[in-house]
Amino acid sequence: MAPGPRDGAPAPGSARIIAFSIRIFPITMSAQIISGTLLSQNLRADVARRAAALTGKGRQPGLAVVLVGDSPASQVYVRNKVKACEDSGFYSVLEKYDATLSEAQLLERVAALNADPKIHGILVQLPLPAHIDAFKVIEAIAPEKDVDGFHVSNAGMLMTGQPLFRPCTPYGVMKMLESIDYPVRGAHAVVVGASNIVGKPQAMLLLQAGATVTICNSKTRDLGYHTRHADILVVATGKRNIVTADMIKPGAVVIDVGMNRDDNGKLCGDVDFENAKEVAGWITPVPGGVGPMTITMLLVNTIEAAERTDR
Ligand code: GUN
Repeated sequence: MAPGPRDGAPAPGSARIIAFSIRIFPITMSAQIISGTLLSQNLRADVARRAAALTGKGRQPGLAVVLVGDSPASQVYVRNKVKACEDSGFYSVLEKYDATLSEAQLLERVAALNADPKIHGILVQLPLPAHIDAFKVIEAIAPEKDVDGFHVSNAGMLMTGQPLFRPCTPYGVMKMLESIDYPVRGAHAVVVGASNIVGKPQAMLLLQAGATVTICNSKTRDLGYHTRHADILVVATGKRNIVTADMIKPGAVVIDVGMNRDDNGKLCGDVDFENAKEVAGWITPVPGGVGPMTITMLLVNTIEAAERTDR
């Protein structure tokens, strides 16, 4: 058989059509991960050095953590807080009470801890059982031992000037922004969530750092409209996947404060991390992001409380 043209080769005498096959590789840059675990290592090393210096002077820093009830999540949180204290050379006490503890009994314990010179920081884990007025309990903590920064005098001082303590989670978020040298001044920050623990103090800290701040919540109409304008997006709603990749401005810093479980029981945040990391410039993981920073800033607040008593 006479040799014919190769498959696809032009027959002799026919016009040559040169087909270019251009393969366009989409250029997707994955976000840089802001590791709360790594950042915490540096900050905790500094805390441990300062704790050793105080201990050497016979003034070991001390934190009391009070847990009422048996919420499994709260038990894990307080265990981690107490362990971090021990690892940093603090004196720590964990007071665990049955959910039937009365409000009066809890107020009595807070008064005793206020008067205890070995204790520089007091943390009453929230939420409290429904029969206890959390506001009353927080107000009973001496402001100079309120290492959560929840007392009205510290919350008010956060609004108007220099609080004795900044709430740990939003304080940790600010440290994360600092760690990547992010120019917060002039940036548009959107905070999703308006709790007293995270959203409201977060907005205040960002505002004080010079950001233009929008505060949203889980009920905000067309949430994506707001989040797509965010240079800095802090999400703290406790609702898994409330922020998806299409709601993120390309290159934005995405800070995920959420702590949820997926269908397989695995820890996850409020942001659809796998897809969001292809759009964001920086993103925090869950676990290993904001969680460790919250505990680290509790240590920082407690060491500062102890150092103040040493002056
Ligand atoms: N419950 C959830 N987060 C916190 C926190 O930062 N401090 C206290 N006391 N309770 C919490």
